[in-house]
Amino acid sequence: MEKIVVKGGNKLSGSVNISAAKNSVLPIIAASILSGGKCVIKNAPMLEDVFVINEVLKTVSADINIDKENNRIIIDTSKLSYGEPSGELVRKMRASFLVMGPMIARFGRFKISLPGGCNIGTRPIDLHLKGFTALGADVSIGHGYVEASTRKLIGNKIYLDFPSVGATENIMMAAVLAEGETIIENAAAEPEIEDLARFLNAMGAEITGAGTDTIKITGVKNLKGTTHKPIYDRIEAGTFMVAAAITKSKIRICGVNEEHLKPIIAKLTEMGVSLEIEGDSIIVDGSRELRPVDIKTMPYPGFPTDMQAQMMSLLCTVKGTGVITETIFENRFMHAQELKRMGANIKIDGRTAVIEGVERLSGSEVKATDLRAGAALILAGLSAEGITEIGDLYHIDRGYVNIENKFKGLGADIERINY
Ligand code: EPZ
Repeated sequence: MEKIVVKGGNKLSGSVNISAAKNSVLPIIAASILSGGKCVIKNAPMLEDVFVINEVLKTVSADINIDKENNRIIIDTSKLSYGEPSGELVRKMRASFLVMGPMIARFGRFKISLPGGCNIGTRPIDLHLKGFTALGADVSIGHGYVEASTRKLIGNKIYLDFPSVGATENIMMAAVLAEGETIIENAAAEPEIEDLARFLNAMGAEITGAGTDTIKITGVKNLKGTTHKPIYDRIEAGTFMVAAAITKSKIRICGVNEEHLKPIIAKLTEMGVSLEIEGDSIIVDGSRELRPVDIKTMPYPGFPTDMQAQMMSLLCTVKGTGVITETIFENRFMHAQELKRMGANIKIDGRTAVIEGVERLSGSEVKATDLRAGAALILAGLSAEGITEIGDLYHIDRGYVNIENKFKGLGADIERINY
C-alpha cells in the first residue's frame, strides 16, 4: 500500500510544469477509433486513466504504442475489428463509456457495461443515450449492459437537458460519420470539448461551434489519422494556484491558458491572491492576508466543480466564512469529513457547505475519497501543523502525473511511501 506523507509549513518557491489535460486526452483517445489510420498524441499525460482507456481500445484491436520516454501515444486503428470491453474494465473508469459513440459510428453497433456511478454521484448516461437514439440508433438497456445498433446514423437536432461534458463528446463523436447535419443544443462548452473538436476536424471532420452551447456537425464519409498536442490541464494548474495561496507562497506555473483559468483567477483574485499572466505561465502570490469568498460550481465558463475540493481546503485556512454550493454532482463533499479530521470547521447542508476558517489545520491521517478530494487533502497538508498522511492514492494517480514530485520540486516536504 502507498500513502503520501506531508509535513506542513514549508513555503513553496520556483516553478512547476503542467501536464496535458486528462479530460481532453481521454475523449481524444476514444475518438481515434473513428480514424482509419494512425493518430499520434504528443505530450500525453502518463496517467492510470490513460492506460485504462488504452486497454479498452485494445479490445477492438487498436494497435497502441505508449512511448513513456517521449510522452507520446501512437494509436493505429487501421485494422480495427469489432470487440466489447469487459464490464470490469468499463466499471474501472467510467470515461471508457466515451468509446460508445465512436464504436456505433464505426461498426453500426456496440454493447458495453453500464459505467455505474462513483463516489461523487450516480453519474447517469441518459443524455448520451438520448443522443444516440436521436441519431437513429436502437438503444436498449438490460442485465447491466447498454446496447445500440443501427444500419446508419442520420444527423439530427439534439437538445441536452443538462450541458453534460461526456454526452456532448459522445454525441459529437457519433455524429461526425452520420449522414447529414447534427446540431447539439445546450451543449457543454468546456475547453476539452473544443480540443476534441480540433482533433476531429484535423482528422477531416466538419465541426463548428465547439466551445459554445451550440455545436454543428456535418457528417463526412471517413476520417484519417492525425497528430495532436492536447491543451494543458486547467484543473492541475488551478490546483497549484491554490497551493501557492494556501502556503502563502509565490510560484510560477508553466503551461496555462488564461482563458481556461478565468473562473479560478477571478475567485482567487477576489480572495486577495495576486496573479500575473506571462505568456503561457502564471505567477501566483498568496502571501497577502486572504479573505473568504462564496463559490457556486457551474458548467463552463462557470466555476469548475473539479476545483471545488481544492477551494474548500483553502477556505478552511482563511479567517471568516465562505459558502460553497455544488450544483453539478449530488455527493461531492466527502472531502469535508476528511478535512474535519484536520480540525476544519465545515457544516454541510445538502449541496451547500459553510466553511469557517480556523487558525491552523492540524496534520492527520486522511483518505482520498475521489480524484480532486485527494489533491485537496495534499493542499491542506501543505499548510497544516505537523504530519498529514493521505491514503487511497489510486484516486489521485488517476488524474495527476507525479503529484508529489511536482510539489517536492516547489519545496514542499512531501514523500510517497510504501507501508
Ligand atoms: C466530466 O465528467 C469530467 N470527466 C469530470 O471530471 C467533470 O467533473 C465533469 O465532466 C463536469 O465538468 C471527464 O471528462 C473524463 P457530466 P462527465 O456528464 O462527463 C449529469 C475529474 O475530476 N448527467 O458533465 O461524467 C450528471 O449526473 C472528473 O476529472 C446526466 O444527468 O460529467 C452530473 O450531475 C470528475 N445525464 C452532471 O450531468 C447524463 O447522461 C455533469 O455530468 C450525463 C450527465
